[in-house]
Amino acid sequence: MRVVSGIQPTGNLHLGNYLGAIRNWVRMQEEISVDGECLFFLADLHAISMPHVPAELRSGTRDMAAALVACGIDPERSVLFNQAQVPAHAELQWLLNGTARMGWLNRMTQFKDKSGKNREGASIALYAYPVLQAADVLLYQATHVPVGDDQKQHLELARDIAQKFNNDFCNEESPVFTLPDPIMPPQAARIMSLRDGSAKMSKSDASEMSRINLTDNADTIMKKVKKAKTDPEPLPETAKELEGRAEASNLVTIYAALAGKSADDVLTDFAGEGFGKFKPALGELMVETLSPISARYVDLREDDEALDAILAKGALKARALAAPTLAATYNALGLFRG
Ligand code: TRP
Repeated sequence: MRVVSGIQPTGNLHLGNYLGAIRNWVRMQEEISVDGECLFFLADLHAISMPHVPAELRSGTRDMAAALVACGIDPERSVLFNQAQVPAHAELQWLLNGTARMGWLNRMTQFKDKSGKNREGASIALYAYPVLQAADVLLYQATHVPVGDDQKQHLELARDIAQKFNNDFCNEESPVFTLPDPIMPPQAARIMSLRDGSAKMSKSDASEMSRINLTDNADTIMKKVKKAKTDPEPLPETAKELEGRAEASNLVTIYAALAGKSADDVLTDFAGEGFGKFKPALGELMVETLSPISARYVDLREDDEALDAILAKGALKARALAAPTLAATYNALGLFRG
């Protein structure tokens, strides 16, 4: 089993990233280290597909590396690196551009969403983004790729590219690429904005009150939770009865994810209570979970040299793991390299 996943290094991690993705990465790292391997990377090459500020990308890369380690990604057990230090990602993308079809990319909903009305002004990198993502996982013969719902289509594309390449350029007995399976861990919680239960918690939301950052202190967390949008009804006995109450449902989901319980179990404890009672309990649980993470983060983030050394070491391992597949790809395509 080989698990590969990436995250864009755009600024600070928030509770949605943690409960939706990173905590599951940590779990996978714990489960798999006996008979497999995890590779986790900062998708800095993907970050240049949208307008960006170079200095912010550089510091955001260190921010995210520190945040991942603070959350429990152990650079000794998992391979932790940033794409830009492993040129094989960009190389393999170019090689796969010969196999990916315009028609496939034209169907990608993320490109449509991110380019919006300005399709003509979108970068080529934004259009080819899913091919780079395919290269990210195919390069390492990933068997499993933990992704959220919004990335499932990109993973399907990676499978299509792998299949077509194997078909077009390989013997049936010796395909170059493994077809990766998406895994969506059942515990992966979809965390919504604290101001709007229909929008995902996001670092690009204009309102700071919409999200809990992993670096927020206890006072800020309590304040944000107390100000979170809710409704005047008391909490029901079962999760099913929360239908149509998006904000209430989101807070219960967060509580359940933090406590490691089901939403139904949480409601058993709080049925009949109003938010005046529920919110302080939720805030305390958040502070309890996040304060050790943010303390570790602050420590790690103070030492650029140590962080850079972690990424350099991870990149060294990643380059070695990538080399055979990259060589096999050049070879299958008939590209002469001496
Ligand atoms: N596109 C992913 C996201 O925005 C990040 C990513 C890049 C990724 N390459 C990947 C995720 C490879 C999984 C596997 O969330």
